Amino acid sequence: MKNTGIFYFSSTGNSLYIAKKVKEKFEGKILYIPSYFGNASEFEDIIIVTPIYSFGMPIPILELISKIKQGKAITIIQNYGGMIGGADRLVYEYAVEKGLVVKGIFTLKMPENFTLVMSPPKIYKYIILKTCDRRINKVLNKIENNQFKLPKKKKTKKQTYLKNKANWHKIGNRFSVNEKCVKCGKCISICPSQNISFCDDNITFADKCIACLGCFHRCPQKAIIYNKKDNKKRYVNPLINENEIGKDL
Ligand SMILES: Cc1cc2nc3c(=O)[nH]c(=O)nc-3n(C[C@H](O)[C@H](O)[C@H](O)COP(=O)(O)O)c2cc1C
Repeated sequence: MKNTGIFYFSSTGNSLYIAKKVKEKFEGKILYIPSYFGNASEFEDIIIVTPIYSFGMPIPILELISKIKQGKAITIIQNYGGMIGGADRLVYEYAVEKGLVVKGIFTLKMPENFTLVMSPPKIYKYIILKTCDRRINKVLNKIENNQFKLPKKKKTKKQTYLKNKANWHKIGNRFSVNEKCVKCGKCISICPSQNISFCDDNITFADKCIACLGCFHRCPQKAIIYNKKDNKKRYVNPLINENEIGKDL
């Protein structure tokens, strides 16, 4: 039996759901990247499960990749809400640049959680969830049968992602809480970048946001609002237990 490290980042549970399916198939340990301080290179097999952010990768994924020992082989499963936009190739090039051997990169459609601009209709989310096991199993069977594939070089112009990421912290200041906030502190405890704190007994957002939107989607009171407006839809994957997001399993 292989010793598999299943590393994930997730703010609304889609990646955790996939990570659990990986574990069902290959066994291993599910590890939440922001609270992982071990040596990932010690695992015989490394599978990284991650959402796509702004046609690229969330910062914790890039940080993990840069810490893995050179020459180590990894497999990446990316999931996304609408458009991959070259994120597969981008993370491939990033990992190769860091000296890793990328066995394969797989992309999977899951419900959209970037709802700050617009939300897809409910029925769309329902259909994607209803059919996701089929897509996940297809990917897992490919991994099992060593049918790895790597993303081709894109013909499109150079990615702007790495530049965009440098500005993500700025959206942190656009969040605030409304009168529904009961100061339970959940947002503080789940924020992967320690960007939220109590300041003078008020929930305060600093400038280290990595734009995961976990606080916004998972506030039990729906009290966190964006740009002072409370008109955006929230999402948490209904197929997992929300309290497991951020846990090692
Ligand atoms: C900041 C941010 C940026 C995103 N950018 C993209 C994107 O470029 N393309 C896309 O298809 N989905 C994008 N998404 C949607 C997520 O990739 C998708 O909903 C994913 O399944 C969420 O996974 P999680 O529930 O594990 O966090 C973005 C989400 C966030 C929060």
